[in-house]
Amino acid sequence: MKLFLDTANLDEIKAIKRWGVLSGTTTNPSLLAKEHSDWELQMKEICTEVPGDVSLETTESKADDILEQGLKLASIAPNVVVKVVMTPDGLEAGKRLIDQGIPINVTLTFSPAQAILAAEIGARYVSPFLGRLDDVAADGMHVLAEICEIYAVQAYETQVLAASLRHPMHVVEAARLGADVATMPYDVFTKLVKHPLTDLGLEKFDSDWQKLQQELKEGA
Ligand code: E4P
Repeated sequence: MKLFLDTANLDEIKAIKRWGVLSGTTTNPSLLAKEHSDWELQMKEICTEVPGDVSLETTESKADDILEQGLKLASIAPNVVVKVVMTPDGLEAGKRLIDQGIPINVTLTFSPAQAILAAEIGARYVSPFLGRLDDVAADGMHVLAEICEIYAVQAYETQVLAASLRHPMHVVEAARLGADVATMPYDVFTKLVKHPLTDLGLEKFDSDWQKLQQELKEGA
């Protein structure tokens, strides 16, 4: 399973990229709004920095306008994947973008039925939002499991991009169910690496090592 960062913040991207585990980035209008900067410049820098696909979301609502905006977004960099929302107009524009050779990510997907539509138009990614399903007392992980099962049975090539992940167990479960990609915020990435036993073990190794150095110094 590939790991993507869900952010429009360049420092976060640089930090996780240093770990050698970053395969792509997803953004959305809310994440861009948080940066309070010239989003186009910001996106150019992000696309240069990220070693893989960068999803940029369209904000128009009519198919013709989504298409026009999607073409502009795609011209920002060769690794841009245009995000379209799971609506009839989003699907129409998405299909027309695909027909022009532009990869798309169908976002705001909440059901297996919607995921079938994304696969049928030939999207590169479908993004089921697990955390937001959990927020309304639905079972995000169950929806992801159904999508992964259907995609396997139908041999769909669209990649399942588990999104709206809120904690490390979301990531672990998504991997177990066979998601192709997990996108997560910076704080979830940093939680993935943490374990109290790692910290305790490191502390003990450090103190034993220091003791040995002291003994050697005193014996010399
Ligand atoms: C994915 O592409 C979305 O940007 C993201 O995962 C949404 O997450 P949220 O529900 O935490 O806002």
